[in-house]
Amino acid sequence: MSTPLNRTLPDAVIEVCGLGVAAGSRVVQQGLTFEVRRGEVLAIAGPSGCGKSTLLRHLAGLERPVAGQVLCDGRDLHRGSDDEQAVLRRRMGVMFQAGALWSSMSVGENLMLPLRLFTLLPRDERERQARFKLALVGLDGAFDLRPAQLSGGMRKRAALARALVLDPEVLLLDEPGSGLDPPNAARLDELVAHSRRHLGTTVVMVSHTMDSVFAIADRLLFLDESTRTMTALGPPQELLATGPPEVRAFLRHGGRT
Ligand SMILES: Nc1ncnc2c1ncn2[C@@H]1O[C@H](COP(=O)(O)OP(=O)(O)OP(=O)(O)O)[C@@H](O)[C@H]1O
Ligand SMILES: [Mg+2]
Repeated sequence: MSTPLNRTLPDAVIEVCGLGVAAGSRVVQQGLTFEVRRGEVLAIAGPSGCGKSTLLRHLAGLERPVAGQVLCDGRDLHRGSDDEQAVLRRRMGVMFQAGALWSSMSVGENLMLPLRLFTLLPRDERERQARFKLALVGLDGAFDLRPAQLSGGMRKRAALARALVLDPEVLLLDEPGSGLDPPNAARLDELVAHSRRHLGTTVVMVSHTMDSVFAIADRLLFLDESTRTMTALGPPQELLATGPPEVRAFLRHGGRT
């Protein structure tokens, strides 16, 4: 590949340097500089509307920054040829906030679609992989069901299984537990922790559920709404004890502002 390597941190999978992101024509976050370390769970939190989902879409390479760079293993996610960008994006599995599955397809077909688009695996192997990932999230029996036949919690788990289906190095999750009751949200947290432990996946997770953050995140990145930039980055317990006042208040109130 022709893109120059400019990696600076050996254990960083993703490096974000001076990033500015816009939603529509409005810059919602700027001056973001942080790294995602290999094998960690990094949570992103902040008030509703501060730009968490927008940032996640930039980390996935789906939107172009208005300033700065996102490097994945030292390579700029938004530069290089289409093929080079596609190779980098393939290393990431994304679960969007709405967790949308295609309603016209069975759950199994939803999982097999990325395998059909991005691998040369034959059909029986695609099915085997899809069934394996469904089993991993406790949905062994859901292969032939339609998304509409699943409960909300099951749909979330199916969306997580789809994000995992290409064995991504980096899993980008937008509010995976939202809309779930506490036991199901805790179950989803356990699944994320499980895939980190057993598949070595690096996880970036937007969450407004501080229970989740304290349960599974190694570090928390806090995005501020009024200053439109990050105001804290560190282990959640540390930020709760010694972070800036607005971050401590946010954490104390469980993510409600
Ligand atoms: N396509 C768009 N065009 C214009 N503005 C947008 C667009 N998408 C989002 N926004 C606005 O950009 C801001 C950031 O949105 P974003 O979805 O990133 O916030 P968020 O932190 O994920 O919020 P939430 O916690 O509610 O999910 C919001 O004020 C939102 O209204
Ligand atoms: Mg959001």
